[in-house]
Amino acid sequence: MQGQSSPMDLEPIEGVSGQLLEWHPDHVPLTTGQAGRQLPFQRWFPFKEAFAPQFVADVLARDGRGTGTLLDPFGGSGTSALTAQHLGWNAHTIEVNPFLADLIQAKLHAYDVAQLRRNWSTILARVGRARPSLSRLYAQAPRTLVEPGEADRWVFSAAVLRRVAAYRQTIEALPDAAMRRFFRVQLGAILVPLSHVVISGKGRRYRRGWQQLNWTGADVDARLARAVDSAIADVAAARPHAGSRCTVARGDARALLADAPVADCALFSPPYPNSFDYTDIYNLELWVLGYLNSKDDNRRLRHATVQSHVQLIRTASPPPDSPQLTRCLQRLARVRDQLWSPHIPAMVGSYFHDLAHVLHHVAWKVTPGGRVVVVVGDSRYEDVYVDVAAILQELAPACGLRVTQCEAMRSMRVSPQQGGQPGLTETAITFTVQRRSTAAP
Ligand SMILES: C[S@@+](CC[C@H](N)C(=O)[O-])C[C@H]1O[C@@H](n2cnc3c(N)ncnc32)[C@H](O)[C@@H]1O
Repeated sequence: MQGQSSPMDLEPIEGVSGQLLEWHPDHVPLTTGQAGRQLPFQRWFPFKEAFAPQFVADVLARDGRGTGTLLDPFGGSGTSALTAQHLGWNAHTIEVNPFLADLIQAKLHAYDVAQLRRNWSTILARVGRARPSLSRLYAQAPRTLVEPGEADRWVFSAAVLRRVAAYRQTIEALPDAAMRRFFRVQLGAILVPLSHVVISGKGRRYRRGWQQLNWTGADVDARLARAVDSAIADVAAARPHAGSRCTVARGDARALLADAPVADCALFSPPYPNSFDYTDIYNLELWVLGYLNSKDDNRRLRHATVQSHVQLIRTASPPPDSPQLTRCLQRLARVRDQLWSPHIPAMVGSYFHDLAHVLHHVAWKVTPGGRVVVVVGDSRYEDVYVDVAAILQELAPACGLRVTQCEAMRSMRVSPQQGGQPGLTETAITFTVQRRSTAAP
C-alpha cells in the first residue's frame, strides 16, 4: 500500500470523448460536480456530489485495458456510466433513488433527435388542455409543498405547481417510455429553481424574501423550454460510442449487486456517514413527479438506502471486524450523551457493515487483478474522528481486496451540527481484486 500521494495527474482526453471531457479546471476538486454545470449532459441536473467526468476517464485510462465493463453501485447522477459510454466501455450502474435512476437512464439512452423534437411539439400542443387536480395528485404530500402550506410556509405557489402538474400529466401520456423519461427529467430539473427553497448543505432552506417571488405558469414554460432546448442540443452533438452497452438497475445496491454482471473495474462513491439522507435533498423531485405518493413510499425508500443517516431508526447491523472501527465505536459510545442524536454510534457501526457487504460483493463481480476505486469521506462527531478510508483499508483483505493506492482528494466541512468547519478528508482508495480465497458473499 502506498501512503497518501498528491492528487491525480491529469491529461486532457482526445478523440472519442467529445465535449463531455473538457479540460477540468485546476481549482475544482475532481470529486465534486462543480465543473459539471457547464458540461453537456452533466448540466441537465446539478448534482453536487458528482464525480468530474475527467476523474472517471482518468481511472479508466489507468486501467490500461482499452475497454471493458465498469461497475458503479452508487450511480448518483450517472457520471461513471456516461463517461464510460463515451469512452467505449460498457457500464452497469445501480441507483436507489428513482428520480436519479431516471436521470442516469435518460442520459445514457440513444435518442432519435427528430423524435425528441416531435414529442416536445406534442407536449407544447397539449399542455394547455391538461387539468390536473393538485389536491388529488398531492393528497399525501407534505402540507408545505404548495400554498397555503403550513405555518405560513410553502415551497411552490399554486400557479407554478399547477403548470408543472399539467406538464407532468402531458408527459405521462406520451406513448414511448424513453420520451417520457427524458421530459420528466427535464421537468425535474426546473423544480428547485422555481421553488421558494434552495438546497443548502444537507437540507433545504427558504430563500430570503421568498414571499415576494411571484413566479407563474409562464416561468415554468420558459424554464422548461430552455432546459429541453439545451438537453436536445447535447443529445444532437453527442458522439457516444456505438458499441457500448450500459445498464441501470433500480434499487438497493446491497441486494442488487448479486445480480450485477461481471466487470473489469469498479468505481464508486457511497454516501458518507454524515447522518444525512440523500433522499431528503431530492424530495421535491420525488414528490412533485410522482415517485413518492405516500409517507410509506418515503419510508421504504429510506430503508433501501445505505445506513449513513439517522432520519430513520433501524435495527443496528453488526459492525465488521476492524480494530480502528472498534476503537472509534468505543469512543463514540463514551460521548453518546453529547451527540445530537443518540443513534449515531449504531449508525456508524451499521454503515461499515453495509460498506463491507458492498465491497465483498464488488470484489466478487470484478475479475481478479481488476481494480476497485472507492471515493469516501470521513466524519467527525464531537471529538471523535471517523476515519473511513483507514477503516476500509483494514476491512479490505476480508473482502478479497488489496489496497494499492490511497489519495487525499480534498478537505470537506464537518456537518452544521458539528460547527461546519473544514477538516474532513475525502480519499480515493484503489484496491486490487485478489484471487478468490474468501467465501462467496
Ligand atoms: C455520492 S452519490 C454518487 C455520485 C456519483 N458518483 C456521481 O458521479 O454522480 C451516492 C449515491 O448513492 C445512492 N445510494 C444510497 N444508498 C444506496 C443503495 N443502498 N443502493 C444504491 N444507491 C444508493 C444515493 O441515492 C446517491 O445518489
